[in-house]
Amino acid sequence: MAVNAVKAHLVTLKAHRNRLARTTMREMFAGDPKRFSRFSIAWNRLVFDYSKHRLDARAFDALLDVAKTAGIKARREAMFSGRIINETEGRAVLHTALRAPSDDHIEVDGHDVMDDIARVRRAMTRFANAVRNGKYEVTGGAVSDVVNIGIGGSDLGPAMATLALAPWHDGPKTHFVSNVDAADLAEVFKVIRPETTLFIVASKTFTTQETMRNAQTARDWLQRKLKRSDVGAHFAALSTNLEATRKFGIADERTFGFWDWVGGRYSVWSAISLSVMIAIGPKRFGEFLDGAREADSHFRTADYGANSPVIMALLGIWYRNVWGFETHAVLPYDNRLARFPAYLQQLEMESNGKRVMMDGRAVPMDTGAIVWGEPGTNGQHAFYQLIHQGTSVIPCDFLVAAQSNDHLPEHHELLLANCLAQSEALMLGKTLAEVKAELAQSGFTEKEIKRLAPHKVFEGNRPSTTLLYERLDPKMLGTLIALYEHKVFVQGVIWGINSFDQWGVELGKALARDLIPLVEGSTKAMAKDSSTAGLLAAYRKMSSR
Ligand code: F6P
Repeated sequence: MAVNAVKAHLVTLKAHRNRLARTTMREMFAGDPKRFSRFSIAWNRLVFDYSKHRLDARAFDALLDVAKTAGIKARREAMFSGRIINETEGRAVLHTALRAPSDDHIEVDGHDVMDDIARVRRAMTRFANAVRNGKYEVTGGAVSDVVNIGIGGSDLGPAMATLALAPWHDGPKTHFVSNVDAADLAEVFKVIRPETTLFIVASKTFTTQETMRNAQTARDWLQRKLKRSDVGAHFAALSTNLEATRKFGIADERTFGFWDWVGGRYSVWSAISLSVMIAIGPKRFGEFLDGAREADSHFRTADYGANSPVIMALLGIWYRNVWGFETHAVLPYDNRLARFPAYLQQLEMESNGKRVMMDGRAVPMDTGAIVWGEPGTNGQHAFYQLIHQGTSVIPCDFLVAAQSNDHLPEHHELLLANCLAQSEALMLGKTLAEVKAELAQSGFTEKEIKRLAPHKVFEGNRPSTTLLYERLDPKMLGTLIALYEHKVFVQGVIWGINSFDQWGVELGKALARDLIPLVEGSTKAMAKDSSTAGLLAAYRKMSSR
């Protein structure tokens, strides 16, 4: 089994780690003027720089050996060709078909899915155009506001992409409601007019508790404000569950389907992004898909040593399984990518936060890293202290555009300088000797230097990848997301886990269902443990005050 081969490689990789622990990136850069060109890939308006890592050619080759023995090629082709690789749910994994060339033939169970995809895309395009040009009318005429109600993959993808592509918005205003906390919906109610709002209920299953609650509350709100018979036109649905969308009262002509082979966190390419298409228009949405398709072809054709998502995955393995670093920061120096870290949290952590392999045995190594992050430069004034001087080493991804979408060049130059400075500082650090010399030059006394110097030392040698792209446009966004999708895929193969199920979210959902009658007080049943029982009792007391 591939994972045994991976385990054997880990022994070799640990020897490389021990060897490299005796040197620093600073020394490696000094000793090799070609280090950047050796460890970077320029491809499609994008530079992927992985030179600031604890790597040399020998360790990199050893990492590539992991990729070669893990069975990536076979599994990759199984995914792209529609085989059932999500074994625990008995499903194909075909988000890549959603952005494949329209003349491709991709079959699931002997059925060509490309016609289905084209049919739904045409329906989405017609509807999005009609909403955008005002031909689709609701009670008060043209739609002024679109509210996407969904959660997880039915929210994070479209919400992230809508913000990222704000410069291309020329449709109605878009809002996103995900949390069952009434605050989420209440804030949106404050800024929309019922007469001109379209609610899009986005839910693959159309059973998700939070989404259904929010959708029902939105419908009640409209029913209070409008004529009951007019409310239907204010709803559209994105789902695989036609029976449930009909039961909710959403007409089939405003229901845009997808299929069980599109995982929730991989659904941004599907009907789930109707709100994005309405915001930026079908043409730009097509460019978004084109960008992803280019990443697919890079992933399928480039040698592992020149394959960005494969290298991203291997670096993750290197730090998680060989160096024991637990978290991974995603730091976009691109304010409109503010939701990208949250999007990647679901993509990476729901996909690879698994403890058993496909055959049910425990994975003999650590899996999915903890992904987190915030845009720069804001993060610099918040948590970077720990990244620079804390006791944990946190590999980082810096993302930055060469061209800004806004016409304030002084801002962009400052942003870029900060981004480059951070990865440089993490790599170089500052030695005790350098700190002492600096303090002496500033006129500090010997005694003060001794006291202050240790606090000002930066260990350095802290790893980061930089993704420098020409400009954040629909196509580039598609490329970036798809690169991370394939990174997650490769890691899943190496760990021998199923990256496409999410059983880990089920227990909490079931317990919440059981607890509803206890919270409502409609049962005399007891909570399963004394902590929950105690908290419920305290809740009853406090809520009745
Ligand atoms: O609870 C996890 C999850 O199933 C995610 O995987 C999914 O993206 C989200 O819930 C929303 O599910 P749905 O689209 O079916 O409402």
